[in-house]
Amino acid sequence: MSSLRHIRGLFRQFVNNSCSIKQDRVLSNSNYSSHGNFIVPSRGVQIYKGSGKDWLPTLHVAVTGAAGQIAYSLLPRIANGEMLGEDQPIVLHLLEVPQALSKLEGVVMELQDCAFPLVQGIVATDDLRKGFADVSVALLVGAKPRSQGMERKDLLSSNANIFAEQGKALNEVAANDLRVFVVGNPANTNALICAANAPRFNPERFMSMTRLDQNRTQYMLAEKAGCKIPEVDRVIVWGNHSSTQYPDITHARIKGESARKVINDEKWIREVMIPKVQQRGAEVIKARGASSAASAAAAVVDHMRDYWHGAGDRWCSVGIPSDGTYGIDEGLWYSVPVMCPGGHYRRILNLPIEEFSASMMEKSRKELVEERDAVRHLIPKEFGEKMYTAKKNAVTGAGKKAASK
Ligand code: NAD
Ligand code: LMR
Repeated sequence: MSSLRHIRGLFRQFVNNSCSIKQDRVLSNSNYSSHGNFIVPSRGVQIYKGSGKDWLPTLHVAVTGAAGQIAYSLLPRIANGEMLGEDQPIVLHLLEVPQALSKLEGVVMELQDCAFPLVQGIVATDDLRKGFADVSVALLVGAKPRSQGMERKDLLSSNANIFAEQGKALNEVAANDLRVFVVGNPANTNALICAANAPRFNPERFMSMTRLDQNRTQYMLAEKAGCKIPEVDRVIVWGNHSSTQYPDITHARIKGESARKVINDEKWIREVMIPKVQQRGAEVIKARGASSAASAAAAVVDHMRDYWHGAGDRWCSVGIPSDGTYGIDEGLWYSVPVMCPGGHYRRILNLPIEEFSASMMEKSRKELVEERDAVRHLIPKEFGEKMYTAKKNAVTGAGKKAASK
């Protein structure tokens, strides 16, 4: 298993060597702008955990909104190897807006003071092209959170443009094997905008987060059934990361049995569980005065770990470009169940959909169409054609080579 990861790591290095911007340039570039960009090699020498002999080639990982709430919980976990592995050295690329750079400097100090063995360097900047240079994994967290009384789609006007600009920059400077995970809300449509502005990459590489909703559903089921959380599986979150999302337990299992049979309470499922998961974000905001952060960071780690290393036969929900299945318009970023074999995902197809489920899924589809229509000005016209090509490539295998790692 470990040697397979090493072969993948070497392959990734080989693919990225053909990329025009090299790591050396990022780390040795001292021409910073006057508003305080800084690049900090975490230490002069590499510090190895154990012998270090088994370590993979260094990977560049970007996190936007790095001085924000979610990042504060997320960064130490990435740096500690919880997401990409304890044998995966990384250079952290931390992006922020100019006015948050001094706060970011404090975050960098703390990361240094943690002395994480895997961290080979830290790039901290407000310059997208410096920040995304050579990155293989981009976690797009930076965006405004909603406040009490708002829906997540109300954030489109302030956040959508961020993802168009980031898509363009990733397109120019990111590594060939880039994977993008969008967290900033409204996450599904932001992922669509980002992918549409990064035509160099197969849109399948852009995912949006619904893992937090999956975790919330899983917890509620375990609590209700009085079982352990890992004993609940095959929970699905369909659609938008919004109050129209559909947490579906039709196919879920508790200790291998049908969750619905074990719970045996349709009223609770429809009138308590579903609305509670749909409204959980708002409930946290009301109680905390700020949106979820530790649980969001945990969900990022959970999803990316499963995606990167493989999740065996567990199902994961994630927003990905629809391929037209389940009656969802092609090219909407719609959350569906996938299997993660390691480094990519496979949609779980042909699940039977009951009438109630179909009507719930349709509500979320309609909302995503509305969101897409509201940001048409940020989606290049040729994107529809690109979606088609990506799908064709995936079928013929032309996309497989690029997606493998
Ligand atoms: P926060 O306000 O604490 O931090 C956001 C950070 O992003 C700030 O430091 C801000 O300066 C920075 N930022 C803003 N624009 C940026 C840009 N263009 N480039 C780089 N950085 C930028 O917010 P938070 O609590 O960390 O939440 C971040 C986002 O994640 C919000 O949109 C929130 O709604 C969303 N969120 C999504 C989920 C999910 O499940 N998908 C869960 C929780 C939160
Ligand atoms: C959540 O689900 O907790 C986040 O999307 C934050 C929010 O706005 O609800």
